[in-house]
Amino acid sequence: MRRHEIAVIPGDGIGREVTPAALEVLEAAGRAHGFALDLTEHPWGCDYFVDTGRMMPVDALDVLRGTDAIFLGAVGRPDVPDHISLWGLLIPIRRTFRQYVNLRPIRLWPGIPSPLKDVTPEQVDMVIVRENNEGEYSEIGGRLHHGTEDELAVQESLFTRKGTDRIMDFACELAATRSGRICSATKSNGIIHTMPFWDERFAHATARHPQLQSEQVLIDALAALVVLDPGRFDVIVASNLFGDILSDLAAAVAGSIGIAPSGNLNPEREFPSMFEPIHGSAPDIAGQGIANPIGAIWSGAQMLEHLGEADAAAAVLDAIEQMLAEDGPRTRDLGGTATTADVTTALATRFRNA
Ligand SMILES: NC(=O)c1ccc[n+]([C@@H]2O[C@H](COP(=O)([O-])OP(=O)(O)OC[C@H]3O[C@@H](n4cnc5c(N)ncnc54)[C@H](O)[C@@H]3O)[C@@H](O)[C@H]2O)c1
Repeated sequence: MRRHEIAVIPGDGIGREVTPAALEVLEAAGRAHGFALDLTEHPWGCDYFVDTGRMMPVDALDVLRGTDAIFLGAVGRPDVPDHISLWGLLIPIRRTFRQYVNLRPIRLWPGIPSPLKDVTPEQVDMVIVRENNEGEYSEIGGRLHHGTEDELAVQESLFTRKGTDRIMDFACELAATRSGRICSATKSNGIIHTMPFWDERFAHATARHPQLQSEQVLIDALAALVVLDPGRFDVIVASNLFGDILSDLAAAVAGSIGIAPSGNLNPEREFPSMFEPIHGSAPDIAGQGIANPIGAIWSGAQMLEHLGEADAAAAVLDAIEQMLAEDGPRTRDLGGTATTADVTTALATRFRNA
């Protein structure tokens, strides 16, 4: 039997509810498709921070380095500043393991109502390719004159040619396997150094892929267009900040942030990649057992595909699609009354009965 070694970090809040739910479905898929997941769970996150002063142990990255993949729930707790939870765990993992692609597919599943009227599943099927290692999320900057009238904060964005070209190339290659349409999210009217550079590198990348139909759209107009005309978009390549915001917006267009997955990919496979739903720890619903596990389960399907288990990954997506189309259980964010466990059981059972 094939085996895959997975580091599991459930994290905080609903991360601890959707992670076991997703693993139940993935393990059921594994049994049906001839592989097993060797799971090692790590209790890292905000509780760990409150107890130890660190989001994860000093040797955490060495512990993760040898694994085949990392499966994460979410981090964040209201009494721990968000920059501590992000910079103490997620960002070091993404950067140390050169997970420079954040792949965020968005689909309106048949049977799920979109908040947009008259929109069909065929019109909402896009992938946001978010740059994941640099851009606006940088540590360069500082604060001066704390607590005085002269107080100031400076934050620098960082765009390298290497970092920009590799994300553009990844997005172009992905677009070539889909409809051939690619859109770059820019803001080169207002941001006068980094965004014209981003546009230049996009022009270079699309010149290397002349078969693609490419456009660039200012991020503010793009946000409106994703709502008004989602069918126009297939692959969207975006900087770290723009991709982050745009994917929550697009997930809402597709019915719920609770459905959307993400893969933090190291395409060269020098290091493990990490898979996590795009949502956070949702403290407002944590502990109630009502979180939608589909985002975590779909992220798990992305992980299976990355591990070479493409048939099982496709089967997990088919199971989600059929369950939703057959009016199966829905959590509250989708207008239903089902619990996390109801949705998980409905999906896992499909593999047990297969
Ligand atoms: N990758 C991550 O770990 C990550 C990502 C985003 C936010 N966060 C952290 O999470 C905490 C909460 O952030 P937030 O409230 O801005 O975003 P959030 O994604 O946690 O929640 C936003 C809204 O969506 C709902 N929601 C989210 N996931 C859901 C699910 N699976 N099922 C049903 N409803 C769901 C929540 O109930 C909430 O109303 C913060 O500490 C933030 O820093 C972490």
